[in-house]
Amino acid sequence: MAAYPRTTEATGVLGWIDERFPILETWKAHMSEYYAPKNFNVWYYFGVLAMLVLVIQIVSGIFLTMHYKPDSELAFASVEYIMRDVPGGWFIRYMHSTGASAFFIVVYFHMFRGLMYGSYKGKRELVWLIGMALYLALMAEAFMGYMLPWGQMSFWGAQVIINLFQTIPVVGDSLSVWIRGDFVISDPTLNRLFAFHVAAVPLILVALVFVHIVALHTVGSNNPDGIEIKALKDDKGVPLDGIPFHPYYTVHDIPAIVVFLMAFFAIIFFMPEMGGYFLEHANFEPANPLKTPVHIAPVWYFTPFYTILRAVTLSPFMGTLAMFGAIIMLFLLPWLDRNPIKSWRYRNTAHMLNLAIFAAVFMILGYLGVKPVTPELKELGVRMTEIYFLFFIVIFAHSNSEKVGRYLVWFLVLAAAIVAIDFYRANPEDAESYGQIWWQMIWPIAYLAMTLLLPFLMRGCNAEKAVPERVTS
Ligand code: HEM
Repeated sequence: MAAYPRTTEATGVLGWIDERFPILETWKAHMSEYYAPKNFNVWYYFGVLAMLVLVIQIVSGIFLTMHYKPDSELAFASVEYIMRDVPGGWFIRYMHSTGASAFFIVVYFHMFRGLMYGSYKGKRELVWLIGMALYLALMAEAFMGYMLPWGQMSFWGAQVIINLFQTIPVVGDSLSVWIRGDFVISDPTLNRLFAFHVAAVPLILVALVFVHIVALHTVGSNNPDGIEIKALKDDKGVPLDGIPFHPYYTVHDIPAIVVFLMAFFAIIFFMPEMGGYFLEHANFEPANPLKTPVHIAPVWYFTPFYTILRAVTLSPFMGTLAMFGAIIMLFLLPWLDRNPIKSWRYRNTAHMLNLAIFAAVFMILGYLGVKPVTPELKELGVRMTEIYFLFFIVIFAHSNSEKVGRYLVWFLVLAAAIVAIDFYRANPEDAESYGQIWWQMIWPIAYLAMTLLLPFLMRGCNAEKAVPERVTS
């Protein structure tokens, strides 16, 4: 008889490991006996795609680090060396630069899915908050990575972003010197951003993805119907509308991964710069502290927030506050949207409109961020910024669709606030922007009319549908 009785059903190497580490239990809890709703649709591919891109970024990043020199005298040339002399270097570099944009594309779709199906509700607040922390970490990682080639945009982009900290009252100056490690952006700045980009932030990202999934698996996945599948179980405790994640979804995800990789490699092989959107043309010039580029624009995934920064001209600090505030609002979403119905399929038309407009406004803000400022576009940026923030108030107002009279009050209060701000902003001596302010007032007022006045006047737009007990497809 063995000295120790067997404690696992597995034999061989697996049994040996399982007696010492809960490998089978973990596999069952997160894969073969993790019951996911059977009605996942295409929007549920983006989580796994985000994980795939994270792996691509880490692996390609390790190979880039083998040849890159984090030194302000050598960095630009070392990237050129990777592109021209390192065997396959161009491929690794393009994988990494395309991966950065791909990461944001899949994460933006992933977040929008969360908005559509109310995935931040029903004890999933923490999943959402961890997701938002991931989004912040991702932005920090992308910003620091963009600095490393030490091109003109790396340098001047970093200049703009680090100067934002300078706008903070009292501590701003010393804080920005502390961040840079110098009075100007220079070698110590590059060194510290390199350390954060290759070590600190990737570790944080991997750790956050781990807790994101553990938190999700604790409460269970949401789905396009927004129904809690754990509420209806058979006598064995298996959700009636659930299917084991493995093998069903592991196999189901493979075609999506293949299609994604086809698009990803098509970009790498045929249009790696993506017309200057994935790799900006000005960044093919080495950093020159004495020559400011004519038009500084961040990479496309930051431009919505850049437009918000430029739209608020009250003071540089207020602009910075508005930019960070735009991200903080997303953190608060689970507590702003208190409507018990999760999926937009069963919410009222006004809510659907609100989400669709928000997505459009986010894209317009992004477009405006890459365009040079003209009085017309500047004012459009202000209006889109107003709608961006109004979205969160309207989603709060939609929390209780039975008290429809409140919509009218919200409409009147918010419209009055917009007009009051316009009276404050309008300067008759500045004829060009004066005219723009008055005619472009139409955008936020039309937005408020569609999302608040319309459901008040036409009760059909306010009707919510009955949520079924079981998932529908
Ligand atoms: C590195 C970035 C991220 C990775 C790798 C990632 C990964 C995943 C994965 C694999 C899932 C489960 C599959 C799925 O539902 O699609 C998931 C679910 C979820 N994620 Fe993320 N995620 C990331 C960022 C974010 C962000 C930025 C947010 C939003 C702030 C977010 C919010 C959520 C929510 C709410 C769920 C549950 C969705 C549901 O059950 O309907 N995630 N994530």
